[in-house]
Amino acid sequence: MPDSNPALDFIFSRRSIRKFTAEPLSAEQLDLLQQAALAAPSAMNRQPWRFHFITRPSVIAAIDEAALTKYREDGEQALLDRLASRGSPNSLFYGAPLVVIISIDQTERSGYPWIDAGIAAENIALAAQALGLGSCIIGLTQAAFAGSSRDIIGRMIEMPDTHDFAISIAIGHPAMGKDPHEALPGRLVTIK
Ligand SMILES: Cc1cc2nc3c(=O)[nH]c(=O)nc-3n(C[C@H](O)[C@H](O)[C@H](O)COP(=O)(O)O)c2cc1C
Repeated sequence: MPDSNPALDFIFSRRSIRKFTAEPLSAEQLDLLQQAALAAPSAMNRQPWRFHFITRPSVIAAIDEAALTKYREDGEQALLDRLASRGSPNSLFYGAPLVVIISIDQTERSGYPWIDAGIAAENIALAAQALGLGSCIIGLTQAAFAGSSRDIIGRMIEMPDTHDFAISIAIGHPAMGKDPHEALPGRLVTIK
């Protein structure tokens, strides 16, 4: 591994952070994260997304409530227990001051909008790392858009009717450290 390569350092040091301080992000940090989102590549450069940057606590709380209500109704006890064991029984976002939701156009015909959204999510996560922030990609948010709350939450975050939730990212100042996940070299195939 090269000893000084900032881009690789951010890739190797990123972790899923599940505890944040209450400190808000600065306007500059928010702006740079937004620029990083817009810089992501997409199939045929279609940019089939909308990036919903949400810092309003009441909206984050409404998304949490909608998703957790759905999980409770569906009897997803193991999932609820996992959140509680992580010290965040009432939030999918672990107290992060910024939640970014990526929605994608259902009518997109490039065939890759979900992949585009995933790549953009990692762009945002790595930008957060480069800014000294922590992040956690959150898929569980999908429940807020799965049932009857879809329209209410969709309106709150200004998601067009033609869009679907793709993925979300919680971002803030980290209040924990974490070891890297176990890498599985057996998953690598090298054809020489
Ligand atoms: C598509 C996707 C969805 C995820 N959803 C959640 C989630 O809902 N809640 C959560 O705490 N972590 C979530 N994660 C984080 C993973 O659990 C984490 O990336 C994995 O355990 C590896 O740990 P690391 O990110 O620290 O390397 C998600 C990650 C990805 C890529």
